[in-house]
Amino acid sequence: MMLNMSLTTPFAVYVHWPFCLSKCPYCDFNSHVRHGGVDEARFVRAYATEIAATAARVPGRTVSSIFFGGGTPSLMQPASVAAILEAIAKHWRVAPDVEITLEANPTSVEAARCRGFRAAGVNRVSLGVQSLDDAALKELGRLHSAQEALDAVAIARANFERYSFDLIYARPRQSLESWAAELRRALAHAGDHLSMYQLTIEPDTPFFGLHKAGKLVVPNEDLARDLYDLTQAICVKAGLPAYEISNHARPGGECRHNLVYWRGHDYAGIGPGAHGRLTIDGRRVATETEKRPESWLMRVEAAGSGLIVDEKLTAGEAADEFLLMGLRLAEGIEPARYTALSGRTLDPKRIAVLREEGAVETTTDGRLRVTLSGFPILDAVVADLAA
Ligand SMILES: C[S@@+](CC[C@H](N)C(=O)[O-])C[C@H]1O[C@@H](n2cnc3c(N)ncnc32)[C@H](O)[C@@H]1O
Ligand code: SF4
Repeated sequence: MMLNMSLTTPFAVYVHWPFCLSKCPYCDFNSHVRHGGVDEARFVRAYATEIAATAARVPGRTVSSIFFGGGTPSLMQPASVAAILEAIAKHWRVAPDVEITLEANPTSVEAARCRGFRAAGVNRVSLGVQSLDDAALKELGRLHSAQEALDAVAIARANFERYSFDLIYARPRQSLESWAAELRRALAHAGDHLSMYQLTIEPDTPFFGLHKAGKLVVPNEDLARDLYDLTQAICVKAGLPAYEISNHARPGGECRHNLVYWRGHDYAGIGPGAHGRLTIDGRRVATETEKRPESWLMRVEAAGSGLIVDEKLTAGEAADEFLLMGLRLAEGIEPARYTALSGRTLDPKRIAVLREEGAVETTTDGRLRVTLSGFPILDAVVADLAA
């Protein structure tokens, strides 16, 4: 029984590459610029060490997806990607149909590099296009033009079975008309997947300071909501409905790796600042590694892993997390799984009130899901249900 579960239950590996050519002023991801270069071979050895240490804790799993995120993993040498994939295959079984995604910036996508990534085993690319408006790209601090981004999309399409790209909307001075035109243009270049994020003003970023000083004005709540609704309408018409708040796909084109997070399955986090969730002895364990790349490297070299958080979640914490992640999905959650995790049932009275408000619905097969109009207030819905 245990063996069957390990062969069929999705298990993902997230690999974080924390380096970028420059730091975008809106971004608070764990990404760093190293003008003096990066000792890539040394980092790759450390990734292999951390993979071995993680596999020793959760042996016998079958890896269903691998995601190289960043930072800018497309700055890695294809040989480094290959070496990390070999380390994963040495310690776990890798499913024959494994999804291997690499996040790429248009500035580091060249045909030869892509062929190298593909030869290493990458079969899906996620490109940071962000916008198709040159002035907006400049304001976002991007190093590429709209045309360069579209050229990178064409290279991705030619080299990989599957590709996706990211757009940021609800940007300064964006109108409904201009976003509709930009989105329609983007959709003409889309494959089976598209991620669209509303611009978030993150603390401790240059955008935060500008916003606070009134020099960067973003759409107010009403316009942001209209932009969201417009995005849904245009994407549904184009055959790419949202399967998660910010992610759209043609049926079957969903990112299997991200589904592992949202469906509450296990994933190993490898590299600086990576988060993981592992089931060990029947308990869900939250892991997190040291964020600073060089400190992470030294920790791994000294101790075999960069772990700084390794915490067993209580039943309540695991259940709340399941709710928070699962309700982001259009498919929603199975209430029975919440009960199995927490030992309690979701309050039918609260569900009835939320249903009446049009924020949630129950499907014919008994799943609970947030409606399109409930998505913009998801945090409040989850807080209400988890209370
Ligand atoms: C980890 S980033 C990396 C991708 C890649 N380095 C790039 O920038 O092209 C993943 C995505 O998060 C989105 N993102 C990052 N910061 C954001 C913010 N403050 N608001 C909205 N979206 C953001 C961007 O669309 C970005 O492509
Ligand atoms: S948005 Fe991407 S390229 Fe820009 S700093 Fe963040 S991770 Fe790096």
